[in-house]
Amino acid sequence: MDLDQFAALRTPEGSAALAAATELAGGDPLTSAAALRSAGVPAGLAATALTQAELRRRAVGKFGPAAAGMFLTRAGLEQATRGPVAARRARRLRDAGVRTLADLGCGLGADALAAARAGIRVYGVEADPVTAALAAANAEAAGLADLFTVECGDATAFDVSRVDGVFCDPARRRAGTGRRIFDPNAYSPPWDFVTGLAERVAYTVVKVAPGLDHALIPAGAEAEWVSVDGDLVEAALWCGGLAEVPRRATLLRGDDVRRLTGAGDREAPVGPVRRFLYDPDPAVVRAHLVAELATELDATLADPDIAYLYADEARPTPFGRCLEITDVLPFSLKRLRALLRERGVGRVEILKRGSALEPEKLRRDLRLSGGAAASLVLTRVADAPTVLIGRPAAA
Ligand SMILES: C[S@@+](CC[C@H](N)C(=O)[O-])C[C@H]1O[C@@H](n2cnc3c(N)ncnc32)[C@H](O)[C@@H]1O
Repeated sequence: MDLDQFAALRTPEGSAALAAATELAGGDPLTSAAALRSAGVPAGLAATALTQAELRRRAVGKFGPAAAGMFLTRAGLEQATRGPVAARRARRLRDAGVRTLADLGCGLGADALAAARAGIRVYGVEADPVTAALAAANAEAAGLADLFTVECGDATAFDVSRVDGVFCDPARRRAGTGRRIFDPNAYSPPWDFVTGLAERVAYTVVKVAPGLDHALIPAGAEAEWVSVDGDLVEAALWCGGLAEVPRRATLLRGDDVRRLTGAGDREAPVGPVRRFLYDPDPAVVRAHLVAELATELDATLADPDIAYLYADEARPTPFGRCLEITDVLPFSLKRLRALLRERGVGRVEILKRGSALEPEKLRRDLRLSGGAAASLVLTRVADAPTVLIGRPAAA
C-alpha cells in the first residue's frame, strides 16, 4: 500500500469499501473482488480494501479484537509484537515509573499502543512514511492519539533527553525482500546505536531476536526470553533501572504468567536417564535457566549439552512438559518399528534434541498401525543416539 492508496481507504467511500471487504475476507479473492466491483467499488480501491481486510483477519491471532480497527501492512504485521507481550512490557515500564517513552522505529505501533493504553505518553519515530502514517491512524482508531504521536524520520536523530524511557525494536528483516537479518550489526537502527541507548537513557528496553547470542547482552542488562503457549516469540534486554535479574524466562498462557529467573551461567548436574523426562519450555532453554529448573525439579541432564531433564518423581511444573519414560533403546529403526508394532502403537508424537533424524521421515519409516499412542524422544545419551519411549506423565 502506498500513501495515495491509504488516503483513498480513509475517505467515506474507502471506509465503506473496507466494511464490505471485511464481510468477504477469508473467501475466494477473485469472487470477493468481483463482488466489490459489481457493488460499484473501483478496482484499485477494491484490491486495497480486500488486502487490508485480509490482513486484519490474520492479525486477530496477534492483537485479538483490536485487529478489527487497525491499519496494517504485511511486513508491519509480521514484525509487530503480539498484544499480550506488548501489554506486559508496557505495564512493567509503567510500574518502573516511566511516564514518557520514545519508541524508536515504532512500526505499526503495536508496542507504542500498548504503552499508551498503560497511560504512558509515547513519541513514536518511524522511518518509513507509509508505516508512520498507518501507526498514526492506529493511534487515532484506538482513541489514543493524544498519548501516542508519530513522527516520520530517523530514530537515531531523536532527542532522547525529552523522555524518561526508550524502547527500540530494530528492524530484523531487509526492507523490500523481507528476508531475516541474523547479524545484529545489520539491524536498523544499527546495533551500536541501539545498545548505546542504555548509556543515554535511564530506562531502556530493546526487543531482540530470540536467537540472540548471549555474548552480545550488554553488561548489567537483564535478558528476558518470552514464550506464548509454549512458542518462543521474542527476547528483550532491560537496561539501567529496569534490570532486575541477569536472566529471565517468561511464559505466557492466556492470563497465566510464569517467571523463572537466575544467573544464566550455571551448569545442571549430569546423571542417568531416569523415570521422568522434562522437556523445558524454549524460553527456559534460551535463557540458560535449565540448571535453575533442574534444582526446582531435583533433576539431572543425561548429556551436558542436551536440555532434557530427568528425575525420579514427576512434579507439576509450568516450565516444561513431563513424560514418563517406559523404554530406553539405542536408536535402531528396525527395533523401534518392531517394538511399536508389538504394542499396537498407531500414533506417535516425536520430540527431539541432539538428534539429526527428521521426525516426519521417521514417522513414515515406522509404518505405524494400531490404536495405541506413544511419545518418542530422539536424543543422545552418553554420546550414543538413543530413543526413549514414553507417555505424558499423569498430571
Ligand atoms: C521491528 S519493526 C517495529 C515493530 C513494532 N515494535 C511493533 O510491534 O509494531 C522496526 C521498525 O523500525 C523502522 N526503522 C528501521 N530503521 C529505522 C530508523 N533508523 N529510524 C526510524 N525507524 C526505523 C522500520 O521501518 C520498522 O517499521
